[in-house]
Amino acid sequence: MQRVRKVVFPVAGLGTRVLPAAKAVPKEMLPVVDRPVIEYAVEEARAAGLEAFIFVTGRGKSAIEDHFDRAAELEALLEAKGKSKELAEVRRCQPPAGSLVYTRQPQPLGLGHAVWCARAFVQDEPFAVALPDDLIRAETPCLKQLLDAHAEVGGNVVAVIDVPKDQTARYGILDVTADDGRLAAAQGLVEKPAPEDAPSTLSIIGRYILDPAVMRALDTQQAGHGGEIQLTDALAATIHEVPFHGLRFQGERFDCGNKAGYVEATLQFALDNPETAEATRAAMRRMIALED
Ligand code: G1P
Repeated sequence: MQRVRKVVFPVAGLGTRVLPAAKAVPKEMLPVVDRPVIEYAVEEARAAGLEAFIFVTGRGKSAIEDHFDRAAELEALLEAKGKSKELAEVRRCQPPAGSLVYTRQPQPLGLGHAVWCARAFVQDEPFAVALPDDLIRAETPCLKQLLDAHAEVGGNVVAVIDVPKDQTARYGILDVTADDGRLAAAQGLVEKPAPEDAPSTLSIIGRYILDPAVMRALDTQQAGHGGEIQLTDALAATIHEVPFHGLRFQGERFDCGNKAGYVEATLQFALDNPETAEATRAAMRRMIALED
């Protein structure tokens, strides 16, 4: 089986659910404790062993490129002042030169279209997709869990969670045929069905390992739900060509694309961080006491 080396980060979205915060700052650059949301996704991909990072951006997103570049002036200043801890933090997430590629999605035509915009760089290889809004806290990086499952079953493997029935209209939903509690095979997929139309409550979240067949399907994919070209539809179109599995990964997912999910992620990661844990815990206790 061909090794998965490349990961696509669709980051062209306007962040309409987190306005006005995302008006002048890309939503992917909003910080969770001490680093921007996008950095968590890139770190996850690197920890999973992926080597080529393809960003599908749009207008107003250049801060993302700057973030992963060297900051020569800042680094020289920190060095001169002997601020070695800060210097290490600034350098921490700089993937090797030449491993990052930026391309633009010129119009917001949907997630499937965004992924298709990366085709010249992905070429005819299996590849990963990570939606940075979905911040995943896991001991083993979620993408690594997916790659391991992919090595077992091949084809398309996506991260899934069970959601309450009344939330199916927010996700791509699996039409499940077999389920061993870890991997679920599906015979179809529906993008954002109403609860009464949903074939299950098993929902795709933003981590995918995809067969090259998906990129080929995107070549001719028509607009679907919401008038947008959906990645879910391209996946569904390949289901009779390559195996499809949803993986119930070990870990916790936070939706940083909406305000409540973003706050929750911030609290959890502040509790995880030794620098902020104690103060956060004390503040949370105080606030809860005031609520009661
Ligand atoms: C996208 C996908 C959807 C998936 C979701 C996961 O939707 O289209 O299938 O379930 O990401 O976060 P979006 O949240 O971009 O509307």
